[in-house]
Amino acid sequence: MQPQWISDHLCWTGVNQTNSHDLTPLPYNEDTIAYVVDRVIQVQDYLGQRILLENLSSYVTYQSSMMTEWEFFNEIARRADCHILLDVNNIFVSAHNHQFDPIDYLNGIDVDRVMQFHLAGHSYNGEMIIDTHDHDVCDPVWSLYESALKRFGAVSNVIERDGDIPEFRQLRQELAIAEDIASRTLSADALKMNAYSKNNEYLELDYGRTA
Ligand SMILES: [Fe+2]
Repeated sequence: MQPQWISDHLCWTGVNQTNSHDLTPLPYNEDTIAYVVDRVIQVQDYLGQRILLENLSSYVTYQSSMMTEWEFFNEIARRADCHILLDVNNIFVSAHNHQFDPIDYLNGIDVDRVMQFHLAGHSYNGEMIIDTHDHDVCDPVWSLYESALKRFGAVSNVIERDGDIPEFRQLRQELAIAEDIASRTLSADALKMNAYSKNNEYLELDYGRTA
């Protein structure tokens, strides 16, 4: 295969041969930036193409973090010269759990690096939001998606759904909401450019296991 994009999450998953099978956030500091940048460059050199890094939902922070997540994420993308996969739902989840403004996150990311959005549903337990991918996309995430379109333009989009999967017709309705928001938010020229010039699928549903 010669995929147009190859992506992975900006996270760690295990230590000492033990895999947690979960996506765990990194400490946001210079040491981690240097560590990750070195590895992203290694991977890109091997693949012969730039990869996309994706932000994850998180439930913990570290005392050794010295910057915001978006400063950390953006700095790695700049130094490694990689692309960004911006999971809009994950920004919303982490913003709630860690009490930051999701718009600050969007504004802290370089426009030209973002190649794809993700949207998904989540679960709220009254205190924290968990990124369960088993609900419809909620209104605040649609609103954040609109803000993302305004900042980043016509970026392709995947709606992620891993559990409690409804009838296809209902999934198609979610896609129609995304299409409607995009057509209201973006100019016709921008939509056309994305659909044809950039050779990307404008919007697509993803049934695979993604986080
Ligand atoms: Fe995602």
